Amino acid sequence: MTRRLGSTGPDVSALGLGLMGMSGVYGPSDEQESIATIHAAIDQGVTLLDTGDFYGMGHNELLLRDALKSRNRDDVTISVKFGGLRGPDGRWGGYDARPEAVANFLAYSLTRLGTDHIDIYRPARLDTNVPIEETIGAIGDMIKAGYVRHIGLSEVGAETIRRAAAVHPIADLQIEYSLLSRGIEDDILPTCRELGIGITAYGVLNRGLLSGKWKPDTSSATADFRNYSPRFQGDNLARNLELVDALRVVAEARGVTVAQVAIAWVAAQGTDIVPVLGARRREQLTETLGAAELVLSADDLTAIEAAVPHGSAAGSRYAAEQMLMLDSER
Ligand SMILES: NC(=O)c1ccc[n+]([C@@H]2O[C@H](COP(=O)([O-])OP(=O)(O)OC[C@H]3O[C@@H](n4cnc5c(N)ncnc54)[C@H](OP(=O)(O)O)[C@@H]3O)[C@@H](O)[C@H]2O)c1
Repeated sequence: MTRRLGSTGPDVSALGLGLMGMSGVYGPSDEQESIATIHAAIDQGVTLLDTGDFYGMGHNELLLRDALKSRNRDDVTISVKFGGLRGPDGRWGGYDARPEAVANFLAYSLTRLGTDHIDIYRPARLDTNVPIEETIGAIGDMIKAGYVRHIGLSEVGAETIRRAAAVHPIADLQIEYSLLSRGIEDDILPTCRELGIGITAYGVLNRGLLSGKWKPDTSSATADFRNYSPRFQGDNLARNLELVDALRVVAEARGVTVAQVAIAWVAAQGTDIVPVLGARRREQLTETLGAAELVLSADDLTAIEAAVPHGSAAGSRYAAEQMLMLDSER
């Protein structure tokens, strides 16, 4: 089963795999298991693989290169985010999407990935010091030179989407979308639909909160995004887990898991939406890919809406300083 990313983008599998969690964002990962998970995903028909040059400061791209060594590179669509600045200690230093930075980041990504082209290349965030037209124009030049096939966006709002699309066709917008994060429904999703831009949805399990397995006392490594995420703290977590319990009732009635319902719900919001799953172990992958078989009825969708109503999540989707980086939230 495939879905086309927007009116000009590539055909990709209806569910994609995101590799971020394989490079430390949710605590340590097992490298062999990560590679085995990528292989298992491709074996089961996943063609869209999403990475970022700043995930583990290049580690994620090198991991993908290793995984693809024994594969035909052209069997997969590689999506790469760039622009995030890091320090050797992992600290974040803002975003750089100047035209000269685009060429520089791309050169390093191509080398790390061991490929001569990237299928979808996107700035991870809007660089507020650089007009989006300049960034998109620079990626467009890389397309003309044969290094990139399509342009994507990430976490930008409707006005930026329109400005970008006026410069070059945009394949997809990558943005958080889940039962707990429905902000795109107001302006961003309608704008993408009007302009023929697909959605690659991330955080579909809200970083594990919607997995159905997160408990009030689940502990994680110090360097885990969830230790700083407002939705995983104190009273917010308690409230959000009540929502998950309500969703569990719907899942059990259908004989599926909470994670599968959460994924199928996103996929059911339109054929222009491709959920990008964050599984980093084969056992998680098997469960999440099982959602592809789940077709939700109108009654299911009504029951899901009643269990987790629009806007019911407690806490913002990022910590305050990271929210400031989101053009999509302005
Ligand atoms: N454009 C952007 O700004 C942006 C931002 C974030 C992510 N992304 C992309 O989107 C991808 C997916 O995002 P995400 O990783 O945040 O999404 P997610 O799927 O909401 O969360 C992934 C986490 O959920 C847990 N999980 C996954 N499958 C599970 C299962 N079957 N059972 C239990 N727990 C499960 C895992 O936590 P544990 O392994 O700890 O159990 C996993 O690390 C990323 O890999 C990245 O490529 C893009």
